[in-house]
Amino acid sequence: MAAEPINLFDFEALAEQKMEKVEWDYIAGAATDEITLRRTRSAYDHIALRPRVLTGTASVDMSTTILGQRISVPFMTSPAGGHGKAHPDGELATARAAAKFGTIMSMSANGTHTIEDVAETVDGPRWYQCYFYRNRETMAGMVKRAEDAGYKALIVTLDSSWPSKRERNIRNDYGNRPRERKNYTPEQVKEGQQLAAKSKFDSGLSGRGQNDPGATWEDLKWLRTVTDLPIIFKGIMTGEDGLLAAEYGVDGLIVSNHGSRNLDTTLSTIETLPEVVEAAGSKVDVLLDGGIRRGSDIAKALALGAKAVMFGRPIFWGLNYGGEDGLTGVLEILRDELEITMVLTGRPTIASIDSSLIRKMPPLD
Ligand code: GLV
Repeated sequence: MAAEPINLFDFEALAEQKMEKVEWDYIAGAATDEITLRRTRSAYDHIALRPRVLTGTASVDMSTTILGQRISVPFMTSPAGGHGKAHPDGELATARAAAKFGTIMSMSANGTHTIEDVAETVDGPRWYQCYFYRNRETMAGMVKRAEDAGYKALIVTLDSSWPSKRERNIRNDYGNRPRERKNYTPEQVKEGQQLAAKSKFDSGLSGRGQNDPGATWEDLKWLRTVTDLPIIFKGIMTGEDGLLAAEYGVDGLIVSNHGSRNLDTTLSTIETLPEVVEAAGSKVDVLLDGGIRRGSDIAKALALGAKAVMFGRPIFWGLNYGGEDGLTGVLEILRDELEITMVLTGRPTIASIDSSLIRKMPPLD
C-alpha cells in the first residue's frame, strides 16, 4: 500500500492497523454471517459502466439539490454513531469537513459530541437522526433540540427496532464496554440500560432496547405534530414500503440496510434501490446508503435513480487517519473518482446521469 492512502480501501486498511481490535470489529462488523456485507461490494462490481466518446465533456458540475438544499456533490455522510471511536474530534471534525466540502453532515442520536456542540462548530447543512423510542417524550425532546440548533431535516431510522446479533461484538464482550451517551440525560441513560439488560443480544448498541418495535406508519402523524422539519425515513428496502412512505407523505427516503448490521441475508441496497425508486421516486427524494467506496459506485446509484448517496464506515476510516483533514481526504477521493467517471461517460451534470449509464454484467464463463 502507498504511504499516503490513494483510495478508500487504503484508508480502511490503515484504520484497521491503528484502531483497537474491539473497536475496529464494532465498526467493520455486521449481523450474523455478514453475507449481505460481502454481497454489497460484489453487487457494485457487477454493474458495468457504458463509456461514451466525443461528448465534449471537458468539465463537470456535481452540484445537486436534495430536499430543497443545494449541495456541491451528490454524496454526504450517513448518520453513524460514535465518531469519537475513530478520533477525539469525532462529529465536530465530520461536521467541519462536510461543511467545507459543501455537503450535508448527518448527526446520529448516538453521537460522541452533543447536538449543540456539533451545530456550533461550523455553519453548514446538517440533518439530525433518531429513532422511534419507546418513550416518545425522549424522542420529542431530541427532535426539539435538533430543531432549535438549526438542523435542517430529521432522519428517522426504522430498521433498528430490535437489538441485532453481531457476533464479533458478542465474542468481544463489546456490550460491557463503557460508552458515552452525551446526548441523553442520566435518567434516559438509565432507562436505556434497563431496557438493554432485558435483551439477549445487546451486542454493543447504545440503548437499542430503547427503540420501539411497536411503531407503525401512523406514528408519522404524531411526529408531524412534534416538528416542522422535513422527515426522512431511513431503512427502506422494498417497493411496498416505498409506496407506503410516499402515501403517508414522507419527505425523503433512504434505501439502507444499516450497513448490513441488523438483518443478514437481505439484498444489498444497490440491488433494492430500483424497486424503491419505481414505487416512490416520482414523489419523494430517494437516497442510497451502503457500500459506497468508489466514485463510480456513486454514479451507478444515481443511474439507478438515487438523488444522492451516503456513506458510513469510510467516515471512521477518514477520521482515524487524520480527523477533519482525514475525512476531507476521503471526500476528495470520491469527488475525483466521480469526476473521472462523469467525464469518461460523457455526463457533465448530475441530471445527465440516467439508466443508460450502466448495464448489469452477465456472469463470465
Ligand atoms: C448503530 O446503530 C450501529 O449500527 O452501530
